[in-house]
Amino acid sequence: MRVVSGIQPTGNPHLGNYLGAIRNYVKMEGDAIAAGGENLIFIADLHAISMPHKPADLRASTLELVAMLVAAGLDTNRTILFNQAQVAAHAELQWLLNGTARMGWLNRMTQFKDKSGKNREGASIALFTYPVLQAADVLLYQATHVPVGEDQKQHLELARDIAQKFNNDFASEDAPVFTLPEPIIPPEAARIMSLRDGGAKMSKSDPSEMSRIELRDDADTIMKKIKKAKTDPEPLPSEAAGLEGRPEALNLVTIYAALAETSTDAVLSQFGGQGFGTFKPALGELMVEVLAPITARFRELREDRQSLDAILASGAARAREIGRPTLDAAYEALGLVR
Ligand code: TRP
Repeated sequence: MRVVSGIQPTGNPHLGNYLGAIRNYVKMEGDAIAAGGENLIFIADLHAISMPHKPADLRASTLELVAMLVAAGLDTNRTILFNQAQVAAHAELQWLLNGTARMGWLNRMTQFKDKSGKNREGASIALFTYPVLQAADVLLYQATHVPVGEDQKQHLELARDIAQKFNNDFASEDAPVFTLPEPIIPPEAARIMSLRDGGAKMSKSDPSEMSRIELRDDADTIMKKIKKAKTDPEPLPSEAAGLEGRPEALNLVTIYAALAETSTDAVLSQFGGQGFGTFKPALGELMVEVLAPITARFRELREDRQSLDAILASGAARAREIGRPTLDAAYEALGLVR
């Protein structure tokens, strides 16, 4: 079992990122290792240049994400953590796979259609071939399992199609060059919404900082934001069904349940009948308790460029080693003389 997954660097991680995604990577590390497998996680910084971006922001958010993953508990002795840009084989293999991927396949990718929008002529070539790089990311390491969100399933299927066609066209049946990876879709992660609007996702681009808990917030800031969070005047119901039509109440209960790693029903059996005057301080305290060790480590590590560089350098060295035989085999299979 070899688990490989990439994460897009987004700056300024918040509670929604932590509960929705980052915590999951730490759990998956445990699962992969328990199954006797290997776990590779990389920052998809090469993918990030497919959209307009500011170089200084990309650099900062790459480093921040590394700090966040480690602060959240990823163990770099067990997980190979690196960024694509330091492992040239990702870009090399993408080029080799560009010979196999078909225009027709890429034309069907919904992410390209969404991200290019009305201005398809102005979209970058990188945005179009993004899924081929993603295929290279996993095929390079002979990944058996790839944890991805529902929205990335189509890209995984494309990776399988590319692997299959390459094997058919250029390898003998008993010695395929690539392993066909299986997607793992993690159980529906908690959807964390804005503290100011229960109908909008918690987002780093919301102009109001009060709408989100940032992982750099200190305890006082967290308490203040929770106390100011939008709610309604009703007390909490004693069952989840009673939260229907009350998006802000639902959101706070969802956050509580996610932090306590329990169900909303369990939270409501404890707090049902009580008002937000009681619930909010309890939520704030729980949040501070769960996040404090993570945010403290995060703040320390994000300032420690030397440690971050060392983590990435050692991850990249191990990744290069694991990927080398497959890259060599792909060059060889294509008849490229080296
Ligand atoms: N495209 C993925 C996303 O947006 C990130 C990603 C890049 C990835 N390469 C990958 C995920 C390889 C899994 C495997 O979430």
